[in-house]
Amino acid sequence: MNKALIKKDYLKIIEKLKKYNQAYYEKNSPIISDQQYDILKKKIIDLENEYKFLEDRESPSQSVGFKPSKNFQKVKHKIPMLSLGNVFNEEDLKNFEKKIVNFLSLEETSKIEYSAEPKIDGISASLIYIKGKFVKGLSRGDGSEGEDITQNLKTIKDIPTLITKINFPEEIDIRGEVFIENKDFEKLKDRFANPRNAASGSLRQKDSTITSKIPLKFIAYTHGYVKHMEINNQIDFLKNLKLWGFKTNLFNRKITSIKNLILNHKDLEEKRKEIPFDIDGVVYKINNFDLQRRLGFAANAPRWAIAHKFSANSSISEILNIEIQLGRTGALTPVAKIKPVNIGGVIVSNATLHNEDEIIRKDIRIGDTITVERAGDVIPHVISVDFKKRTKNSKKYIFPLNCPSCGSKTVKDFNETTKKEDAVRRCASEGYECKKIAIEKIKHFVSKEAFNIDGFGKKIVENFWHLNLIKFPHDIFNLDYHDIEKLEGWGKLSVANLKFSIEQKKKISLKRFIYSLGIRHIGQENAKLIARHLKSLSNFSKLSKNKYIDNLLNIDGIGPTQIQSIKNFFLNKTNLNVLNELSKELSILDITPINDNGLLKNKTFMLTGKLNDISRAEAKSLIEKNSGKIISNVNKKLDYLITGEKPTIKKVNTAKEMGIQIISQTELIEMLNKTS
Ligand code: IVH
Repeated sequence: MNKALIKKDYLKIIEKLKKYNQAYYEKNSPIISDQQYDILKKKIIDLENEYKFLEDRESPSQSVGFKPSKNFQKVKHKIPMLSLGNVFNEEDLKNFEKKIVNFLSLEETSKIEYSAEPKIDGISASLIYIKGKFVKGLSRGDGSEGEDITQNLKTIKDIPTLITKINFPEEIDIRGEVFIENKDFEKLKDRFANPRNAASGSLRQKDSTITSKIPLKFIAYTHGYVKHMEINNQIDFLKNLKLWGFKTNLFNRKITSIKNLILNHKDLEEKRKEIPFDIDGVVYKINNFDLQRRLGFAANAPRWAIAHKFSANSSISEILNIEIQLGRTGALTPVAKIKPVNIGGVIVSNATLHNEDEIIRKDIRIGDTITVERAGDVIPHVISVDFKKRTKNSKKYIFPLNCPSCGSKTVKDFNETTKKEDAVRRCASEGYECKKIAIEKIKHFVSKEAFNIDGFGKKIVENFWHLNLIKFPHDIFNLDYHDIEKLEGWGKLSVANLKFSIEQKKKISLKRFIYSLGIRHIGQENAKLIARHLKSLSNFSKLSKNKYIDNLLNIDGIGPTQIQSIKNFFLNKTNLNVLNELSKELSILDITPINDNGLLKNKTFMLTGKLNDISRAEAKSLIEKNSGKIISNVNKKLDYLITGEKPTIKKVNTAKEMGIQIISQTELIEMLNKTS
């Protein structure tokens, strides 16, 4: 066949594909099935492989910018893939270490060893090896459930497919970062905003032949589930990763003392330009695995690691106006609308002013020339005013005393702990009565940590709210899909996807459900504690009877502030209605504790007095790991009162009167050492 004819045929198929793409992506109404589409794509790629002279910008082999697929199989991570907390300066870092020292009850002078690793700005992936064979690769997903992207990961040369080294664990989940080097990104610049997006887009292509054309790289840095591994610190683990055939970061270092961490951070920040890929900070991990295990995890991140982001970039701009943003808890946050400036590659036109006191303290006025700072993914904020540049036209900002959305009066709460008025002013309405708060509450409801409804983002919430499609969270489960199909930007396929995502989330854990209600002061950690304590939705609903709420005080970690907030929540009729309507639509899974068979099963404990060599927090986590329960009141539900140095005499006496067993720390440890 002659070249011209082949080319003509090839272009014809590409033209067809273009039409199908348009139907799918722009009009949301596909004209061929997924299978037919895939066959066509394969035909193009096969032709290109056979006839090297074929090339076209519109070819699927070139256009990784296509929307990533949603059709990967979801797989649960055996151990969740968490994120990391952030620190930005030496003080934050000192606090991080202080918390660790307290948790572990170490001497204040203890030297803690860290593994300091550059934080690569890519996409994390989990690689499961069984008997040395790479069997499955997952994306992070929402942290607890990822997508099966094995085929795409297999195209990455840095990922070994078979490891025969003698000490390679029988089963291990190796985790690391997939990224693209800056020089390779140059060629993809037209299609993606940054290297990170390029890596993510390429990894999530349905067709792995497309992924294979992108020079993705992989650097390994940690592990999830592992069976039989005799390595006891991170630095040795990194060394072994290398021996097993993985790439590790050249700049990983073992470091002791905050002072040296800071020096290393500075050094890397300077070297950043020379490193061939994007790094956005340094990750510090406690080196010793035993200490890591003892420290464990908080809601979303390990207690034993933190990310130290590179310092903020700042720029000079001018305040054009000050507007109020209303959050879901009713907080009024002043935001400066500024003359757009480029800060570290991002155009910034809004900067937070935090609260009313901050505006007064820094004497910030409309028209002022200011310094704005932006660090990592944190909201840009105004640092200072250049008073020399202030003109007569600058205008003082009068903070509104009424809610800009519903007009209710605003209040400042009195903080019982600090005995001071809060700096934050809030709309006094109790929630759904205020339009802006209602929208923010629904955004929270669908957010990643709450219902995590795929494709139901903030924009859609706003849009649907204004179209009167949703006014309350439960409306999400009663959408009129026929109506939505007729809306601009929607079509059969996208509506079907939306419906699917919503249906999927009708089954939800109690802790997520409680968190999603957006009760003030009930974040993920508290929602988890309450869910564990109450165990079922029916018990949670019983809280509407005020007398049950005080029982929550028994939960270690829940105090008067949270109790008051829960009371307020249940006093509000709309909230009760939302709860009732939601319980009709959803199936809320009762709590089944992960480890309900530990040595302390069905036993409750309370701590009083100072313990030796172990902090209260660690003792608590130790008891919970062994299925025991901590309560914070002496009552008839209590089985053991653990007494340390200088216990509260009243507690000890009440326990004695009630015939509760009083034990020492040693006796607790003995209970734990018993093999049943
Ligand atoms: S450790 C629980 N080590 O940063 C431990 N993460 O915000 C978390 N990252 O999702 C992972 N370089 O994508 C770890 N040396 C490194 C890392 C690193 C980059 C990314 C990773 C993670 C995110 C955490």
